[in-house]
Amino acid sequence: MAKILVTGGLGYIGSHTCVALFESGHEPVVIDNLSNSEAHVKNQIEAITNSSISLEVLDLCDFDALNRFLEKENDIAGVIHFAALKAVGESVEKPLLYYQNNIQGLINLLTAQKNAIPFIFSSSCTVYGDSDILPLKEDFPFQKAVSPYGSTKQMGEEILKFSAGKNHQGPVIALRYFNPIGAHPSSKIGELPRGIPQNLIPYLTQTAAGKRTILSVFGDTYPTHDGTCIRDYIHVMDLADAHVFALNRLLEGKNKNNFEVYNIGTGKGCSVLELIHKFEKTTGVAVPHKIAPPRAGDVTAAFADTELAETVLGWRAKRSLEEALLSAWNWEKQLP
Ligand code: NAD
Ligand code: WQD
Repeated sequence: MAKILVTGGLGYIGSHTCVALFESGHEPVVIDNLSNSEAHVKNQIEAITNSSISLEVLDLCDFDALNRFLEKENDIAGVIHFAALKAVGESVEKPLLYYQNNIQGLINLLTAQKNAIPFIFSSSCTVYGDSDILPLKEDFPFQKAVSPYGSTKQMGEEILKFSAGKNHQGPVIALRYFNPIGAHPSSKIGELPRGIPQNLIPYLTQTAAGKRTILSVFGDTYPTHDGTCIRDYIHVMDLADAHVFALNRLLEGKNKNNFEVYNIGTGKGCSVLELIHKFEKTTGVAVPHKIAPPRAGDVTAAFADTELAETVLGWRAKRSLEEALLSAWNWEKQLP
């Protein structure tokens, strides 16, 4: 059983990955400052896995506290680094907060790390920007970042590309997530947006549940088959599994390079209107919606080329979009 440090492990993707780590025989050790998560998520992970999990409430920007923690935890075999702020709109309003939290947090973690151990980084399809060529492939160059948030993901990858394998840094895999949705089938963990959701699925499920009156579809004149934007929605449990594949590749020393990048998506695009209709058909619940003006910064279409993840990591998404939507709905229904 390898001890794996999971930063941001009580967050949306981190909590599902903790479950996947336990199920694959690893032992997650979580650091989280609870800035965008709730302490009780720890109990939920424990209930699902029937195991106890170690949690350190700590801010990665507090270098001394982090360093003390890592001096104590000297048998960590790998790191999965989720901890970051992720709200695109907020990052435009508070750019320095995003650079400080996401970049300073990453540098502190790399600096405080004691041994050259495997490191998995949460990157994002946002690094591709608005590309005319689809599907998106890992070797496409970065486009100009449209937000400080996206810029922190590009910078994070650059920092890791140059530092991986140097001094006391181990090998790194950056996973570029597409659009994670859904929840664990137990409905014990899921997405917990604070305030008004900015992302499509939590807004949609809250509207279906009657917590919001109507869902705005941002734009219907994009050059797509129905005029609405296309994204690659992936079940969060598939995404969680991808971390285990990436981690095992590095732990087993199968990586060819010190820095590798993989797209983590389904490879299939789905428009906003298609998604709404699929949700209605799968759950039998209507989603009141209206067409609204486009949202600034949205790209027309983004979906992954998944060949590299399939052939090299040996991972591919197994769960259907219907399964993901149903799990998101089951999660929403039991929320207060
Ligand atoms: P989340 O906000 O649910 O989880 C992030 C966790 O990190 C939270 O629990 C938060 O409290 C913690 N955190 C933030 N800053 C911290 C700090 N300085 N010190 C300690 N803990 C800190 O977000 P998520 O959706 O689970 O995303 C996880 C990662 O994946 C992030 O890096 C995000 O940028 C990336 N990502 C997310 C998506 C998405 O759509 N959810 C897509 C692509 C990439
Ligand atoms: C999906 C589609 C919206 C809300 C974001 C980040 C990206 C990555 C994933 C972290 C878009 C439309 C949305 C609504 C709508 N995160 N929409 N009405 O923008 O693809 O990606 O999360 O790295 O960086 O930008 O996801 O869920 O916000 O939007 O019509 O109320 O739904 O226009 O086409 P997005 P999203």
